[in-house]
Amino acid sequence: MKPQDLPFFYTFESRRPLFEPPVLCIPPYFSDHDKYSSLCLESFERLEIEFCSGNGDWIVHRALSHPGIQFVAVEKLFKRVRKIWSKTVNHNVSNLLIVCGDAKDFMRHYVLDGSVDRYYMNFPDPWPKQRHAKHRLLTPEFIAGCRVKARGEALFTLVTDSHEVKEGSRALFENPALTQLDLASYGRSYFGDLWVSHGRTLYQVEARV
Ligand SMILES: C[S@@+](CC[C@H](N)C(=O)[O-])C[C@H]1O[C@@H](n2cnc3c(N)ncnc32)[C@H](O)[C@@H]1O
Repeated sequence: MKPQDLPFFYTFESRRPLFEPPVLCIPPYFSDHDKYSSLCLESFERLEIEFCSGNGDWIVHRALSHPGIQFVAVEKLFKRVRKIWSKTVNHNVSNLLIVCGDAKDFMRHYVLDGSVDRYYMNFPDPWPKQRHAKHRLLTPEFIAGCRVKARGEALFTLVTDSHEVKEGSRALFENPALTQLDLASYGRSYFGDLWVSHGRTLYQVEARV
């Protein structure tokens, strides 16, 4: 399968949440999520979610090496979702659901309270300028939402090359552990490789939510 083999699901006018396994599409600029509660994730023995999955290199490898865990990749750009989808199909990955949509909408409307065991966010867009702050995903409200959906205390792993994002995590999480990341042992991703090739230092933040 090539990424282009996954068709567009709908026009803007006909947009609605749609589940074409393994892809759950949650359209932007949509308000009637409550009418689609049947698309809410079922409960799994162990559920782990990666936000901002990009082209899916990291999560596809993770899902393949942990077949007993149900994973979810959340990515808002359809052209990147297509790449995750083709890798999932070509590698016969059966434990990865791909969400094409905004992580905030997905968490608020399609995830059961108390159902998530672990979160990952690898190289989120930092949006350092204050006038772009509305685009940031890592906010106190988002982390509070992750806490509601967590089963007990869930580990949240944040990986970044941004000094601001790393330092900002101190205000988001309680007692976060900040370390330098070894990408080879953590798992590679497109942006991880890119920043390593630019000689940047990578950081890992781990905290309980
Ligand atoms: C810098 S890339 C990192 C991609 C990947 N994790 C990697 O390491 O290669 C950030 C990704 O986050 C996605 N993204 C940003 N905001 C998002 C949101 N609110 N919901 C879902 N995805 C989002 C972007 O579309 C982009 O693909």
